[in-house]
Amino acid sequence: MHNTRRTLIAVSLSLTLTFVPFLAYAASPQPAKGEHGMVVTAQHLASEVGVEVLKQGGNAVDAAVAVGYALAVVYPTAGNIGGGGFMTIRFKDGRSTFLDFRERAPLAATKTMYLDKDGKPVKGASLDGYLAVGVPGSVAGFEMAREKYGTLSRQDLLAPAIRFAKEGFVLEQGDAASLQGGAERLARDPAAAAIFLKPDGKPYAVGERLVQPDLAASLAAISERGADAFYKGATADAIVKASGEKGGILARADFENYAVRELKPATCNYRGYEIISSPPPSSGGVIICEILNVLEFYPLSYLGAGSAETVHVMVEAMRHAYVDRNSALGDPGFIDNPVAKLLDKNYAREIREKIDPFRAGVSQELMPKGFGESNETTHFSIIDNDGNAVAVTYTLNGSFGAGVVAAGTGILLNNEMDDFTQKPGVPNLYGLVQGEANAIAPKKTPLSSMSPTILAKDGKPFMVIGSPGGSRIITITLEAIVNVVDHGMNIQEAIDAPRIHHQWLPDTVYIEPFGLSPDTEKLLTGMGYRLDLADTTWGQAAGILVGGKSLAEIEKGGGARYNGAIDSRAAAGKAIGY
Ligand code: DON
Repeated sequence: MHNTRRTLIAVSLSLTLTFVPFLAYAASPQPAKGEHGMVVTAQHLASEVGVEVLKQGGNAVDAAVAVGYALAVVYPTAGNIGGGGFMTIRFKDGRSTFLDFRERAPLAATKTMYLDKDGKPVKGASLDGYLAVGVPGSVAGFEMAREKYGTLSRQDLLAPAIRFAKEGFVLEQGDAASLQGGAERLARDPAAAAIFLKPDGKPYAVGERLVQPDLAASLAAISERGADAFYKGATADAIVKASGEKGGILARADFENYAVRELKPATCNYRGYEIISSPPPSSGGVIICEILNVLEFYPLSYLGAGSAETVHVMVEAMRHAYVDRNSALGDPGFIDNPVAKLLDKNYAREIREKIDPFRAGVSQELMPKGFGESNETTHFSIIDNDGNAVAVTYTLNGSFGAGVVAAGTGILLNNEMDDFTQKPGVPNLYGLVQGEANAIAPKKTPLSSMSPTILAKDGKPFMVIGSPGGSRIITITLEAIVNVVDHGMNIQEAIDAPRIHHQWLPDTVYIEPFGLSPDTEKLLTGMGYRLDLADTTWGQAAGILVGGKSLAEIEKGGGARYNGAIDSRAAAGKAIGY
């Protein structure tokens, strides 16, 4: 890896000394600007849907619901009505709330359902096919958001999604690439293949039209009859039937009993900024806050972006916080989450006292007592003319979820059950080694990392941010915040900047391509760090900054009101302001 990388740099240098940038994110495009509203999503048609809703007089929640339904059609890798997610809302008057519409384990789920008779995890059982499916929450979530906090009708908000499904939409480069990436998985299920692959078995190409008539009919039923059409009607029946025939355990009662939870967001204060983010059953907001509380003590701005010292303190804060994530957190309906302790600034001080200023910590030494004994998600950020801000992260878990569609529904189903602890100490899809707090139980929600986050300053919205990326969602979101607040980057630069990640186990610092200079890598190795120089990037953050594109512009008072940025890593996404 190292040698290839050095050669690449040398070649790039010799070829591009003058004009072509050779560092992946050396120069970011300018953020999108808007004076009345901003919508940033991972698919450009969905962004247009959101902006249209705002222009018609809908608020940010209306736009979020319409975007959520639209992405289920135009971004099938993660957009969904067969999965679940979270919505963080900060209203114009400063109140905030959080909707948990994540999947729940079926009533027939058991703690050891993915283990064989010898207690070993069965490969793929929690990831592929109907046994991997959690009870979906997206439709219930969107409908509750619309009824409680929206202003437009269900029919208005579902219309664009129904149109894209019925009439189809023409694939651009990013759309076609995503379908191509899922082709092998989708080919395994005849109902999924019939929708997402051409009759000759090949994926649809750029310029071709993807039409989804069954999904159009499922969405039209929701438009006519509301969430009951999904949870108490033909859709639930079709999914339960397919599940029963193909090794799953979903029952009609699972659908009938599904309920959204409205929760108090996890909050903290970082250098005068109020952070409003996801509470359990997500680990996201709590762990972002725990890391920020540790970092607040260090002069990151002085230490500099990407310096060995900055990386050192960030990695150590991540290491300690992920121990807590993986051992102490779970569904609040089932376990007592130590949120107050993890958000306490004194606890952050205790962690800081354990950080050696000159040496890497050792993950094995942080193993909690008793522990281990017994791409795709999508985020969108929206703000309206009144200053209502909405951050949504929702998912099928893996790309195209479990890769299955119940015949006649057109709905891809999630594989969220893999987010549970299959067995304490055994890593999941994202390499997370988790404990008993996140063990499987009927009706329980698996612990998530999704972190739809809103920042406020002096009582006003300041930033809306979030990303997909599995266990890395937390560090992606955290780094975007630190890049804006501490390093002075504009919102696009903050999102595009190369990322680092550490999650306690494995005891490795993951670094995006060209993320750190060779000298920095050498310093970190000298401190005892094991580095993994990744050859691919991760995450697709979507962010908005209010009052200017960067802190400097805000301070000068010369910026656009809304500044939107979609990750340069996101091939199909777009930030649109108006
Ligand atoms: O809830 C979670 O933490 C995961 N299911 C998210 C999965 C994800 O971000 C996949 N995308 N890259």
